[in-house]
Amino acid sequence: MSRPPAGAPLRVALLGCGVVGTEVASLISSQSDELASRVGAPLELVGIAVRDASKPREGIEGTPLAELLTDEAESLVRRADIVIEVMGGIEPARSLLLSAIESGASVVTANKALLAQDGPTLYAAADAAGVDIYFEAAVAGAIPIVRPVRESLAGDHVERILGIVNGTTNFVLDRMANEGLELDVVVKEAQDLGYAEADPSADVDGHDAAAKAAILASLAFHTRVRLEDVAVEGIMGLTAQDIAWARSTDQVVKLLAIAERTTEGVVVRVHPALVPSSHPLAGVHGAFNAVFVEARSAGELMFYGRGAGGQPTASAVLGDLVSAARHRVLGGKGPVESSYAQLPVLPASQARTRVQIRLDVQDRPGVLAKVAAVVAEHGVSIEAVRQAPGEEVAHLVVTTHEARQEALDATVEALREIDVVDTVVSVLRVEGS
Ligand code: NAP
Ligand code: HSE
Repeated sequence: MSRPPAGAPLRVALLGCGVVGTEVASLISSQSDELASRVGAPLELVGIAVRDASKPREGIEGTPLAELLTDEAESLVRRADIVIEVMGGIEPARSLLLSAIESGASVVTANKALLAQDGPTLYAAADAAGVDIYFEAAVAGAIPIVRPVRESLAGDHVERILGIVNGTTNFVLDRMANEGLELDVVVKEAQDLGYAEADPSADVDGHDAAAKAAILASLAFHTRVRLEDVAVEGIMGLTAQDIAWARSTDQVVKLLAIAERTTEGVVVRVHPALVPSSHPLAGVHGAFNAVFVEARSAGELMFYGRGAGGQPTASAVLGDLVSAARHRVLGGKGPVESSYAQLPVLPASQARTRVQIRLDVQDRPGVLAKVAAVVAEHGVSIEAVRQAPGEEVAHLVVTTHEARQEALDATVEALREIDVVDTVVSVLRVEGS
């Protein structure tokens, strides 16, 4: 990594001027003196690449930043010391970052989709070129979580990460719990408020959380975890009744990203789960995010804050920019990929979890015994059974002890088949207790 002459400005290129990019550009411009003092050299924004440079842009229009807009991203990245990528998507972001690295620039990206899909290619290229790659904003927006897992906990053993890493779904589930609303009504509200994307499927189907889970798991377990290694279930199957049931039993439903080390390897999954109201994650409301980390020596840690939005995300990007810029001025280099452990990445069927199964059953003698027998036949132990009377059927709630997901799945399938069970109303995993 070449050092600029003493006092010379560092050239910064920005790729993208949308929700995040607009705030990044504004902060670099409005805080230029402070940033220069923190870095030890001025930062000069040399260009902002967008798809359509002629489009009027709120917050940029009429300011000197408007002069920097260009649709020539490829040439821009080749004349920068540091490239910030907040355009999103896989291509051309990937090729542009590789071009930047090849021409000796350090890079900062918020692009979780790209890192979860092809991070190792970028990390290897940056390592070979001797430049930095930073990506704090790619996981949970403003919350410092990449640096703590990658650096602060580098001397510890992370055992488990439980995260609420998607603000849109947390907002939706929280509103459903508080107002008793159905899911589609609240998703529409989240779109109107600008939390959910115009096409909210990446949020509600769990794919946004899965990308973040893959990145966190890779860092935590020093093992490459790819997006396709993450088992994903979104929130679309949840009903107002599921949420009301949780509330009435002192639990909440959260979309969790779970990365854990087992004796056989690593399991990474994203799905809705019941969390006891006493767990710290149960108190995460609205569009906020939180990441709960369990480490062998440190014990339990929780990181909480805003996981999305232009300004919060720009805060994380600017932190990375300062780190990369300091290395340019003072020498040194940020962390490189650590994947030495290469633990086996196991399918979610190997995860150990508990479930709460709600069943409509016939209300007659021997029913409970039949249900209990099916559960026992699959090697699953029951922790509690609760029965609520219905008009023609009884509602049975079976909570299991911890068991392998595959045994729990087989139990549920077998319960669907027995004559005393009218309907399996819902099956939700229980985490955090
Ligand atoms: P956005 O509002 O859609 O902005 C994307 C920007 O990139 C736009 O300015 C767009 O140009 C430009 N762009 C897209 N494709 C381009 C191309 N092929 N060539 C040149 N410019 C291109 O996106 P965003 O919400 O700011 O998100 C940006 C990144 O940050 C994504 O990776 C996202 O996952 C990540 N992130 C976002 C948040 C958040 O809260 N929004 C939080 C954490 C991480 P035009 O304006 O001309 O279309
Ligand atoms: N759509 C994401 C969320 C934004 O709702 O959390 C940042 O990844």
